[in-house]
Amino acid sequence: MMKPVTATSIRRKKQKGHRITMLTAYDHLFAGLVDQAGIDMILVGDSVGMVVQGRSTTLGVTLDEMIYHTRCVTAQPRRCLVVGDLPFGSYQASVEQAVDSACQLMAQGGCGAVKLEGGEEFADRVAAIVRAGIPVMGHVGLTPQSIHRFGGYRLQGRTAESADEILRGALALEEAGAFAVVLEKVHSVVAARVTETLSIPTIGIGAGPQCDGQVLVLQDMLGIFEEFELRFVKRYASLAGVIRGAVGNYIEEVLDGRFPGPEHSYGVETTDPAPRTSEKTTEAQ
Ligand code: KIV
Repeated sequence: MMKPVTATSIRRKKQKGHRITMLTAYDHLFAGLVDQAGIDMILVGDSVGMVVQGRSTTLGVTLDEMIYHTRCVTAQPRRCLVVGDLPFGSYQASVEQAVDSACQLMAQGGCGAVKLEGGEEFADRVAAIVRAGIPVMGHVGLTPQSIHRFGGYRLQGRTAESADEILRGALALEEAGAFAVVLEKVHSVVAARVTETLSIPTIGIGAGPQCDGQVLVLQDMLGIFEEFELRFVKRYASLAGVIRGAVGNYIEEVLDGRFPGPEHSYGVETTDPAPRTSEKTTEAQ
């Protein structure tokens, strides 16, 4: 049996020069498949707002919804580290609010760590949550909860000022006790510099190959979420087409009477495509 992954073992991976893998999941079924495949970390991301709830941003996701999805992911024991995402409005107001929200997410959601967005401006929240005994993953670069400040999902770190802000933010999070930092949509050169400078791992999404690990939204890499295509996402499967095809076949077979055939019925011994009589369709007792 492989050892469970912890925030400490994730930190150690960087020291050993081992790369780190992470994907999102929001429910028991997908979390089980991802964990069985051997992933290091599952992020129950607030991207659930766009992927599952169909919203246009992550801003409307509530702490209760994050607790619910995190609990779905942790309903069965997992080998991987499950990281619960603190949603918009659950930590911005004060240090006290941040600690309270992180405690609720961990106690009720069952995750082994939490993530929050922001650099220097929220380092005090990170330090207080870590003091409360909760491992924290930081998140700098493009932080979707600040989409209205950024004015769009643009690449970050293109100017010297923006690159410095990202590095300062990541360093502040490390100093505050974060065990890892997500770098989202950050220029590869800047991400490489941050990765080289920090002693804790960087987990990139759209931040190039030099990060210590990578994270993607599961439904993007499986080709289920088709609403937009992002340059930094590689599609490892095209499941949307597979699902539509399977559902189409089901509809056709129900309509023409091929499903359910005898092999999916009780007490039906004929291959008659549309058995209707009581003799043929008697339910097995
Ligand atoms: O919510 C999320 O899925 C995330 C990842 C994109 C890092 O924050």
